[in-house]
Amino acid sequence: MAAPIKVVVTGAAGQIAYSLLYQVASGAVFGPEQPVFLHLLDIAPMMGVLEGVVMELADCALPLLAGVLPTANPEEAFKDVAAAFLVGAMPRREGMERKDLLSANVRIFKEQGQALDKVARKDVKVLVVGNPANTNALICSKYAPSIPKENFTAMTRLDQNRAQSQLAAKLGVPVQDVKNVIIWGNHSSTQFPDASNAKVRIGGVEKSVPEAINNDAFLKTDFVSTVQKRGAAVIAARKMSSALSAAKAASDHMRDWFLGTGDRWVSMGVVSDGSYGVPKDVVYSFPVTVSNGKWKIVEGLTISDFAREKLDITGKELVEEKQDALDVCKD
Ligand code: NAD
Ligand code: LMR
Repeated sequence: MAAPIKVVVTGAAGQIAYSLLYQVASGAVFGPEQPVFLHLLDIAPMMGVLEGVVMELADCALPLLAGVLPTANPEEAFKDVAAAFLVGAMPRREGMERKDLLSANVRIFKEQGQALDKVARKDVKVLVVGNPANTNALICSKYAPSIPKENFTAMTRLDQNRAQSQLAAKLGVPVQDVKNVIIWGNHSSTQFPDASNAKVRIGGVEKSVPEAINNDAFLKTDFVSTVQKRGAAVIAARKMSSALSAAKAASDHMRDWFLGTGDRWVSMGVVSDGSYGVPKDVVYSFPVTVSNGKWKIVEGLTISDFAREKLDITGKELVEEKQDALDVCKD
C-alpha cells in the first residue's frame, strides 16, 4: 500500500462536502490503493457540525482513510497537501447569478491562495468549486505565486456531466456511450456547451453526435440553454444549490487529473494561454486530456461562426469578472 497523501476539503461542514468526503475517503478519486489523510477546513462557528462529520467518517470504517484533521485554520488545513478541493464559499439562492457571489467569496480565495503558497506542496493540485469558480481560481493562483498556474483549476465538470446526460437521453443511449462534449468558458449562464465534436456509440459503431441527432436547431438552442440554466433549475426545485451532482463532478475532475483521461476529452477551467483566440490570463474552460498528472488543451478544433460568438461572449464576461475581483482584493 502507498503512503497516505494529505487531501484538504474546504467547506467541509457544508452540503457538497457531505457527499464528497465519502467519495474521497472510499478510493473513488485517488484509486483503491491510495490511502488519504483528510484535512477538513471550515469556519470557527461550524466546528461543532464538523465534529459530527468526523464522527460519521469514523463510523464509515473505511480502510483507505488514514486520518482526519478538522480545523478552522487555513495554514493547518493546507499544510503539505497534495490535493485541495476548495468548496467552502457562499452558494447562490434563487434569482441570483453566480457572479453576484463575487464580492462575498473572492476574499476567501485570496486568503486561501496565500495560505496554500506558504504551506502546501508545490505540486498541489487545486480544484476550485466555490462560486464564481473560474474567477475564484484565478485569484487563488494570483495569491499563490510559488505554485505553478497550471495547478489551479475551476470546476466545469458538472456542466460537462449535465451536457453528456442530456445528449444521452436525447439519443436513448447509456451516458457512458457519449463522449467529447465540450464546455467552453465560464461556469455561468454564458458558458457554451458544445456538442459539435461529440461522439456516440450506437450499436457498437461510433458516430458523430450532430449526425446522430440530426437536429441542428436543438443543439444550438434547447441543449445549450438547458445546460446553461441547469444550476438555477436545481435551485428552483430544491431551494438549495446542487450538491450530490457537484460532489460527483468534483470527484470526476480530481480523479481524471490524478489518474489520467486516455484519449477522452474532459472540460476544466484552466488559466488561459489564449488558445482558440479567447482572452489570456482568465480561468477559461477548455477541452483537455490528462496524462502523468498534466492537462493539455485539445488543439486543432474547428470553431464555427456560431461557436466563435459564444466563445467570445463568455470570454468577455470572464475579463469583466477578473477586473471586479481584482478591485475587491485591493480593499
Ligand atoms: P454550503 O453553504 O452547504 O457549504 C459551504 C460551507 O463553506 C459552509 O459550511 C461554510 O461554513 C463554509 N465556509 C464559508 N466560508 C469558508 C471559509 N472561508 N473557509 C472554509 N469554509 C468556509 O454550500 P455548498 O452547497 O456546499 O456549496 C459550496 C460552494 O460551491 C458554493 O459557492 C456553490 O455555489 C458552489 N458550487 C459550485 C459548483 C460548480 O459546478 N462549480 C456546483 C455546486 C455548487
Ligand atoms: C451549479 O451549477 O449547480 C452550481 O454552480 C450552483 C449554482 O449556483 O448554480
